[in-house]
Amino acid sequence: MTDRAQSLVEAHFAQAAEGFDHSPISKQLASLLDQVLPLLQLDQKQHWLDFGAGTGVLTVPLAAHVGQVTALDTSASMLAKLSAKNIANITPLQHDIFCGLEQRYAGVISSMALHHVADIPKLLSCLQQSLLENGQLALIDLYSEDGSFHGDNKAKGVQHLGFDPQQLLELAAAAGFKDLSYQQIFSIQHKNGRSYPLFLLLGRA
Ligand SMILES: C[S@@+](CC[C@H](N)C(=O)[O-])C[C@H]1O[C@@H](n2cnc3c(N)ncnc32)[C@H](O)[C@@H]1O
Repeated sequence: MTDRAQSLVEAHFAQAAEGFDHSPISKQLASLLDQVLPLLQLDQKQHWLDFGAGTGVLTVPLAAHVGQVTALDTSASMLAKLSAKNIANITPLQHDIFCGLEQRYAGVISSMALHHVADIPKLLSCLQQSLLENGQLALIDLYSEDGSFHGDNKAKGVQHLGFDPQQLLELAAAAGFKDLSYQQIFSIQHKNGRSYPLFLLLGRA
């Protein structure tokens, strides 16, 4: 991602952090993990990474099912909201994944962050390298849309108008992931009156 694109993402989320948990979309996404849980193999010994964790909409419910979650995000403001929730087994980490990670994780989960990252092949390669052998991958994002989900896409640092999950699956395979599959997992009811389906892409390192 160019520095300019990255700074737009950071500026947007610095502003969005305050009301993020109270937005109608975040309230809907609060139940997202219920759909995902039966498809993951979780236990209390595992340490997971939530990529683009934000205020922890997904991190918080995930932390109830695993030993530890590292919540990685570039936005200090979003992570400050998560830190204020004071959950003992969540470690907020303000870090750029493209700079590498010291730890390897049992699983990586991500919700609604991919569309803010320009270089998806490079991101998938970083995620692959962040996982222990056979570690789990669970990526959630929008199916391809016409730009109406965010509206002001450029100002919000949107790099992709959703994804064709089959293409994402092929990129994940090229990055070294195996046992790949995807399915529709959720549908967001937007205030514009439309609904936007989300996919869940699963794989193993
Ligand atoms: C729409 S929010 C989603 C937050 C949370 N996962 C959820 O589902 O509510 C996207 C998050 O991704 C983060 N993000 C965007 N680009 C990122 C990057 N390159 N590295 C880490 N985090 C990033 C943003 O700062 C923001 O907090």
